[in-house]
Amino acid sequence: MLIFRTPGELQQWALAQRARNVKVGLVPTMGYLHEGHLSLIAEARKRADAVVVSIFVNPVQFGPNEDFEKYPRDEARDLARCEEAGATAVFLPTPAVMYAPDASVFVVEERLGQGLCGARRPGHFRGVCTVVAKLFNLALPDVAVFGQKDYQQAAIIKRMVRDLNFPIEIVVAPIVRETDGLAKSSRNVYLSAEERQNALGLSRALALAAEEVAKGPCESQALRQKMVRLLEQSALRVDYVELVDAEQLTPVAEAVPGTVALIAAFCGKTRLIDNRIL
Ligand code: PAF
Repeated sequence: MLIFRTPGELQQWALAQRARNVKVGLVPTMGYLHEGHLSLIAEARKRADAVVVSIFVNPVQFGPNEDFEKYPRDEARDLARCEEAGATAVFLPTPAVMYAPDASVFVVEERLGQGLCGARRPGHFRGVCTVVAKLFNLALPDVAVFGQKDYQQAAIIKRMVRDLNFPIEIVVAPIVRETDGLAKSSRNVYLSAEERQNALGLSRALALAAEEVAKGPCESQALRQKMVRLLEQSALRVDYVELVDAEQLTPVAEAVPGTVALIAAFCGKTRLIDNRIL
């Protein structure tokens, strides 16, 4: 497995792959890899000849009071997992090699990022779009795989690719869950045993929404209230609960099959997100 630590090394390699008609897949991550990430690598391997995994805790997408400093990191374990998963190359840059001190060009999506996490984490998707656009220009992938766990992120990346004409296929892979339903997340390591139990409220509230919608169309306001109640009963502090159109991410008045339910909630100090296409 190849290891690149500078943008130049990755881009040189990517140009050589392109010259040889090798189809490249990219899996962008922030590391501390779990089964969710491994499923993205597996998906990329099905669709490409060579797979690059990027591991970069991107400072530009974290707010001043967020967890950039304490975000979990374990390079040795991540490299072993990438190797086992069959990655061709891993890109491990530092913030200093990714961003010039006077960097002044950023990528901003102006519609899909207005609500949900975009409203709660100002600047977050500007940081995500900017780093993902840079990774696309460095790895020159034919296909890039993202997780549905970050539903809004995936929608915004698809929009960026469409609107800026990146010649890249975006694949969104399903959420990987623990057996009890909790969505896999690197941030789950922050949870105490009690919080880990309470965190089940997220997947349970989404299951409740799916059950209700399976019975017939539901008035969104009433359904959201039921979900909020369940989350609060699990000692979670709700950041948002939304029922939105799957493409435009705008709130719907009535939830129907295909509507997406999204939750962000604090479990102690840890902010967790989860979603489900109803
Ligand atoms: O989903 C993530 O881990 C990050 O937002 C991403 C896409 C790697 C960009 O830093």
